[in-house]
Formats: sequence, structure tokens, C-alpha cells
Amino acid sequence: MIASRKDDHVRHAVSQQRDGGPNDFDSVTFIHHALAGIDGDDVSLAVDVAGKRWETPLFINGMTGGSQHTGDINRQLAIAARETGIPIASGSMSAFFRDPSVADTFRVLREENPHGFVMANVNATATLDEVRRAIDLLEADALQIHLNAVQEIVMPEGDRSFGSWPQQIERITEHTSVPVIVKEVGFGLSRPTVTWLRDAGVAVADVGGRGGTNFARIENDRRTTADFSFLVDWGQSTANCLVDCAGVTGIDLFASGGIRSPLDIARALALGANATGVAGRFLETLVSQGTEALIEMIRTWLDQLRQILTVLGAPTPADLAGSDLLITGEVDTFCRLRGID
Ligand code: FNR
Repeated sequence: MIASRKDDHVRHAVSQQRDGGPNDFDSVTFIHHALAGIDGDDVSLAVDVAGKRWETPLFINGMTGGSQHTGDINRQLAIAARETGIPIASGSMSAFFRDPSVADTFRVLREENPHGFVMANVNATATLDEVRRAIDLLEADALQIHLNAVQEIVMPEGDRSFGSWPQQIERITEHTSVPVIVKEVGFGLSRPTVTWLRDAGVAVADVGGRGGTNFARIENDRRTTADFSFLVDWGQSTANCLVDCAGVTGIDLFASGGIRSPLDIARALALGANATGVAGRFLETLVSQGTEALIEMIRTWLDQLRQILTVLGAPTPADLAGSDLLITGEVDTFCRLRGID
């Protein structure tokens, strides 16, 4: 059951990417200052994340594992991460907790990428023992906990009990040896949620907003009964989440959900993210064109991001915070209605 769901998710997510389209990052424009540029050699893409140094502000976000097909995908993603030096996350490891025979479909992330930064991924009901098994299997450097209540309610076989999540996040954070990242899967984290996560000791909040892979649509397309299509616009876009969380201190922010280009990475960093995650866009390239094409794409993106920083006069990604930005459209409306300057 889980294995076929994982294959379904890949198929639907890939076909969504083919549709492509605009999102709220289009409402974020850098004001161009023609004399602001610096020398390309003076730019470094390195960032600090949860007290560790990453060579790039870009990672492959949690997607898959749990079936033979998705194990193959994880192997290819891990090779791409290794060859480009970017961090990578596993998909939800619930399938492994239920059936240890699928361990290899996750373990490939470490086998193919022995020295890379690898993140394990669990849901917010995982027990401490499951968390330990997930981290051990991947020799994980960090743990992602995903929040996906909207996906669960649209999924016919989904969970319907979310009341224990806050307490379990606190428990996991307290007892886990590696940094904990809490992420949404495309519906966004609000400022009160991020502030709560900070107070619970979570190291990183990945705002995981609307604008990219849409799990309300994916689960609705998988259903044969009861239409949930009224939920496909639920949640805050990634750009809106970032402006909502501006100025929250004591927790690092990741941006994911609808990152389509190096310019979107720069926009997210300028809006306060420490790093950005990509899932659907990379998956589509991998599935339709293969591992070499994905490696080439990631290298090109990093090179182009370096050039954007050069033009903007930002020696590091952190220097993009406070960039001169023009905010229009939906993001401007969101700021005004939420009273954000
Ligand atoms: C995901 N995502 C995801 N997230 C998570 O925490 N655990 C998971 O198991 C999965 N599974 C999964 C499968 C597939 C096929 C995709 C494309 C994505 C969500 C992912 O990490 C990310 O939050 C969203 O996809 C939004 O980012 P993009 O796709 O717009 O870059």
C-alpha cells in the first residue's frame, strides 16, 4: 500500500512540474543598482545552518523511498548530491518503520554519498525509537520532521489525528542528538508556528509554502471518492511565509515550495532564508532526463546563483538579507493585510 502510494506521488509530482507556472516569487523584484557589483572571485556560496557550515544554500528536499522504484530514485538523487556537494533529505521513513525490508531504499542515500550532509525524515508522530532507527540507518546529520495535516485529510487512507504533534515535536527535539528541522510540505508555516518551534528548541523551520508541488492536488487526483479540489489553494505561499517570519530570531529558516530557478533562491535568501530546498523541479529533471542532467542542472544553478550575488554585490548568501526589494502583487497584499512593513 505504502509502496504504491510512493510511486503515485512521484508520478503525479512529475506531471505537475510539466505544467509549471507562476508563483508569488514573481512578486519579489531586486532593485538594480548598476554600481553595486563586486568581483565574482569574491563571492562564496557558503552558509551557516544550525551551527554547521554548508558550502551551498541549496539542498535536495525530502521526497521518497519505500519501494523499488523510489529506491532507484533515491540512489540517483544521492549521486547528484554527492557530485554537486549539496545536502540531501530522505523521504518519510514511515515505510521503513512498518517494513524493515525496505531499508535499502533509504540507505542508498548514505551509501552513495558517504561524506555528504544527509537528513532523515519522519512524521510528527514518530516515536523516539523510530527517530533513533531513522538517524542510525542514514547516519544522518540532521532530522526533518514533516507537517502535512492538509495532505493527510485529502488522502483517503490519511491520518486524522494531529493533536499530539506539538508534544511529540518537543519530545523528539529534546532527545535527539542531531539538529531538528521542522518542515511543511507545501502549505506553509505561519509566524506563530515558527515562533512556537523556536521556543520548543527546534534548530530550523522550513516554511515549505504554496507555489510548487501541490499535495492537495496530488491526493485529490489519487482519490476516487469525494472531491477535495476546493483545498488546492490552501495555505501561504513560500514568499508570504518568509515575509511573515521576518525578524524572528533564534531559529534558522529554510525556504522550500516552488523554488523554480537560481533567481528564486536569491529572492528567498533576500527575504530571510538561510538556505533553500528543491523537490519537484529536481525530481522532474531526474525522471525525464536522468542523473547526469540533474547534476548539470544543479551545477548550472549554483554557477548562476554566484553570478546573481556578484551583480547584487553580496559576497555571501547571508549578505542578501536586507537587499533593496520591490514587493508587488499577492505578497504586497499579504504584507498590507497582515500589517507587515
Ligand atoms: C515530497 N515531499 C515530502 N516531504 C516530506 O517531508 N516527506 C516526504 O515523504 C515527502 N514526499 C514527497 C514526494 C514527492 C514526490 C515530492 C515531489 C515531494 C515534499 C517536499 O519535500 C517539498 O516540501 C514540497 O514538494 C514542496 O517543494 P517543491 O516540490 O515545490 O520544490
